[in-house]
Amino acid sequence: MELREAIGNRRSIRYLDPDRPVEIEKIQCMLEAARIASHFGNNNAARALVVHRETATEEQLASLPSPVGGFQMQLAPVIILWYVEGNAMDEASQRLRELVHCGALGYGPDKVTVLEETLVPLFDSISEFLKGPGMVDMDLGQAVAQATLIAFEQGLGTCCQGSAEWSVVEKAFNIPESCRIVVVQTVGYPAESADAGGQRPRLPFESLFQLNSYDNPFPRSEEVVSQLTQDKFFQAAAPSTNREEELEALRQKYNLPGSGMI
Ligand SMILES: Cc1cc2nc3c(=O)[nH]c(=O)nc-3n(C[C@H](O)[C@H](O)[C@H](O)COP(=O)(O)O)c2cc1C
Repeated sequence: MELREAIGNRRSIRYLDPDRPVEIEKIQCMLEAARIASHFGNNNAARALVVHRETATEEQLASLPSPVGGFQMQLAPVIILWYVEGNAMDEASQRLRELVHCGALGYGPDKVTVLEETLVPLFDSISEFLKGPGMVDMDLGQAVAQATLIAFEQGLGTCCQGSAEWSVVEKAFNIPESCRIVVVQTVGYPAESADAGGQRPRLPFESLFQLNSYDNPFPRSEEVVSQLTQDKFFQAAAPSTNREEELEALRQKYNLPGSGMI
């Protein structure tokens, strides 16, 4: 599948097959994609702890957030805790040196002086600030986005999960204080149809993006839209025909909230 079609087809999959294990190699591929994502200052502050339902403890599983009906965590064979390691920023100057030495930053013959006299002191002075929410969370977002596409390419479904109370999860999984969970991601083989009911709604393009000035919407070319449609980037809008019946069948099969069985 071409990249455009893959991006258009990827959806949050909330209904996962709890009885079909996920090959650990496929999770590794997701993590490999996260590792080579772009990271601010190349600090690799984006980290992950993989939770394997079969072998995790009851206490660990109970700590996981289940904001939507509680069923998503219960169905997922694998849950990835994506977190930021703040201490990574303490080594920011070393990462900068590596970037200069590998030719990523082209400062010419004076590169070492420029690096040591300008960039390094700057990064050293803001390293504490950089540990807080901001750039490093962006890193994590990029890492998760790449991992998500690789998961999709391998036939897996994923869905991110938020929480207002990560400290309980961090404690249950021995995550140190220097680290901050940002999001967790359920992973498994989809129990629902491949299109998961179709493209979920989004706000109008013109209301989201601008060109040169905030009051000037970015011009959306119909030709580009038409090409993307041809490339299967755009999919039929949700809900697909029979989506409600599919959801009810899933609720019945897995005894989920709203099925009338609990
Ligand atoms: C950072 C983040 C946190 C999310 N948290 C939740 C969540 O707690 N529960 C949930 O059901 N979906 C969650 N989602 C999934 C979104 O609701 C979903 O992406 C959105 O409805 C659009 O659907 P789509 O991803 O299928 O296009 C989250 C997504 C992101 C990116």
